[in-house]
Amino acid sequence: MSKSAKSLSGGAPADRILSIREKFHQTFKEKPLLVRSPGRVNLIGEHTDYNEGFVLPAAVDKAIYFAIAPGKGRSCAVYAYDLGESHEFSLSGLVKSQKGWPNYLMGVVDELQKAGCSISGFQCVFGGDIPIGAGMSSSAAIEAGLAFALNKIFGLGLDPLTLVKLAQKAENEFVGVRCGIMDQFINVFGRPRSVLKLDCRSLDYEYYPFDRPDLRIVLCDTLVKRELASSEYNVRRQQCESGVNLLAKYAPGLKSLRDVSLELLEAHRPEIDPVVYKRCDYVIRENARVEQACADLRKSDFHSFGQRMFGSHSGLRDDYEVSCRELDVLVEAASEIKGVLGARMMGAGFGGCTINLLEEKAVEEFDKTVARAYRGQFGKDPKFYISTLESGTEIVES
Ligand code: GLA
Repeated sequence: MSKSAKSLSGGAPADRILSIREKFHQTFKEKPLLVRSPGRVNLIGEHTDYNEGFVLPAAVDKAIYFAIAPGKGRSCAVYAYDLGESHEFSLSGLVKSQKGWPNYLMGVVDELQKAGCSISGFQCVFGGDIPIGAGMSSSAAIEAGLAFALNKIFGLGLDPLTLVKLAQKAENEFVGVRCGIMDQFINVFGRPRSVLKLDCRSLDYEYYPFDRPDLRIVLCDTLVKRELASSEYNVRRQQCESGVNLLAKYAPGLKSLRDVSLELLEAHRPEIDPVVYKRCDYVIRENARVEQACADLRKSDFHSFGQRMFGSHSGLRDDYEVSCRELDVLVEAASEIKGVLGARMMGAGFGGCTINLLEEKAVEEFDKTVARAYRGQFGKDPKFYISTLESGTEIVES
């Protein structure tokens, strides 16, 4: 199967893909399998996945590309094209690397081996255009993309959901971030022009068309490095768990915030730590917002959908407290522009991007006004990306 370089990933930089393939040829002197593994946006449903709630993500045009082929022994050679760095490791002794990025790859190899899959060494060049630390899930793209690629080149026969779970586990165990399942799931299950509603408890999912020619999804990158993201992320998880543990005393069988109603939370408010209360309150309301947002989509009511995005941002800012001043300024500025339907911070928080839903005809004004507001406050320009919704991880050339 082969697609022309131009059609690879809905307008992604074809020359970068060709350079990755070329680099592989030069270094390893053979023909690789070429895999595209996308970044993601999340329209609504933030910090709900690890609470067994609902999310509404989509795979996007920005992606990581792998050129990969099996090797002979047990040694693996990987080259990060965009960083110009290489790393070698043996299947027999996986040691965490100080460099950071190799851990996402070794984590996947580790999980495959733990799952009893028989793999040999391999050679790989990878790179792409998902901005790092922007909250578009470059890490899940590396993990799920490599899991998918190794499944193919070694004929492991793993089904898509197994790949998702394995990639998530790689991040939980080897990298050490207790992320939920959203990013890896949408990376594998994404569909063009669609968002996916995922029930993170049952893993049931359904697609909603998200394809209005007069609307655009624009990401606005604060360019703030998300230093707090992984430590505070784990803290938020613990706070949610402590809320669940307390409430479970009163409601047998209660396993996660998915099982908690606002009434139950309110009834036990005096016993709950005020910070934990706010976290739980946010999660319960955000789950309801995802359900309501999906009802909006069924009616093609994008105005109402956008209002829920604003509601989500307020909750993330005031109650879940994972926003930052830069994100808030971007959302505030966006909210004042005619033609902007909704805006909110996206992903783990503490930096990264906002996601904005706006009329196509408002895009120019949006870029100008939001950039001016941001420059006025922080003395630098944000970055804008128009996102198109694309397919999940796929082979582009074999
Ligand atoms: C990160 C995690 C996801 C999810 C989001 C917040 O992207 O990887 O699992 O929890 O944060 O919604």
